[in-house]
Amino acid sequence: MEKSKTAIVTGISGQDGAYLAKFLLEKGYRVLGAARRSSRQSTFLPRLAYLGIENEIELIDFELSEITNIVRVLIQYQPDELYNLAAQSFVATSWEHPVTTSDVNAMGVLRLLEAIRTYSEHTRFYQASTSEMFGAARSYPQDEETPFHPRSPYGVAKVFGHWITKNYRESFGLKCSSGILFNHESPLRGQEFVTRKITLGLARTALGQQSYIELGNLDAKRDWGFAGDYVDGMWRMLNSATFDDFVLATGETHTIREFAEKAAQQLGFNLVWTGSNESEVGVDRDTGKILIQVNPKLYRPAEVPLLLGDPARAEKELGWQRKISFDELIEMMVKSDYEACKSGKLFF
Ligand code: NAP
Ligand code: GDD
Repeated sequence: MEKSKTAIVTGISGQDGAYLAKFLLEKGYRVLGAARRSSRQSTFLPRLAYLGIENEIELIDFELSEITNIVRVLIQYQPDELYNLAAQSFVATSWEHPVTTSDVNAMGVLRLLEAIRTYSEHTRFYQASTSEMFGAARSYPQDEETPFHPRSPYGVAKVFGHWITKNYRESFGLKCSSGILFNHESPLRGQEFVTRKITLGLARTALGQQSYIELGNLDAKRDWGFAGDYVDGMWRMLNSATFDDFVLATGETHTIREFAEKAAQQLGFNLVWTGSNESEVGVDRDTGKILIQVNPKLYRPAEVPLLLGDPARAEKELGWQRKISFDELIEMMVKSDYEACKSGKLFF
């Protein structure tokens, strides 16, 4: 019988970590979930529990800032594949914690690559790169050849992580690929990200548990897909003939405004906008109730106005296809938040 492969997934407590772990388990992998002590202390990882896989993951103590820990992990487990999903992933926080963000999102990648180069050269390595690297890109759709112009400490640090991964591939022949992933969401998305903030906030509003939501820039455009579709692409990147950089995206872009309108519709609201700039509000046309208020404190010091990806290379070379549409994604998130709020069982 063929020996099952071992994969280490960093960021196992996060959205993508949970979906990837489930995907790999279904493929017969032994999955080692790398988690910080802080998140493991709560005794269970709620996203893994939501997917029903909390007892199938072997948790290992892991901190991206600690080279000695990383070295020990690589020496001990010698994994076939390592997916580096761990990061300080919230763009807004990266202006508040630029040094930590850079240490984890940039130097953390280098620490992993050095440990692989020195102690576990056969390990295939996936780096979670991001469309935030395109930032103020002058052209769209953005693909693997579009120049980077990051607009936040998060984006700048991720550009380093991206280039050092490419460099270790070119310098030492390490088997590593970077996925340049555009925004992907799900019911497991952190509450601080705008899609979840909207679906959760509107679900609470519909149930009378919250009066309204405050949002920042309503006009930014994002290419939003479903996280469950994107982890399949990550796996394909480490299991294809060539190691390279690949964009995963939907090829569609929508404003925050549009996302909110569709989410509101799912809950029976008829969201219309009135006022402008900082005085703009979103109102339910049928009742006159304010559902959304703009708060300029939520504007970012530098915005990424438009992300729209072209996944043609991944579709052609990896056979990757996204399955869930924009409307299906919103429906899934609204439904999940509404049910969780209604039953009082909101765990993440
Ligand atoms: P997420 O839900 O915020 O998860 C981030 C994970 O990183 C958490 O498990 C977190 O652990 C862990 N982490 C943070 N700092 C760490 C450290 N110093 N050492 C070890 N672990 C640490 O993020 P996600 O949405 O799943 O995204 C996964 C990766 O893809 C991230 O690298 C993100 O930057 C990148 N990405 C995401 C998207 C997207 O739209 N979701 C798009 C492009 C790229 P704790 O629970 O302990 O905090
Ligand atoms: N979070 C948040 N909260 N964003 C808001 C709000 C608000 O109240 N109001 C407006 N926005 C706008 C932001 O200004 C931004 O333009 C857009 O909504 C999306 O913000 P986020 O959902 O926080 O995601 P992001 O695009 O900054 O970053 C996500 O996607 C990247 C890939 O492009 C994260 O998952 C990153 O880790 C990932 O790399």
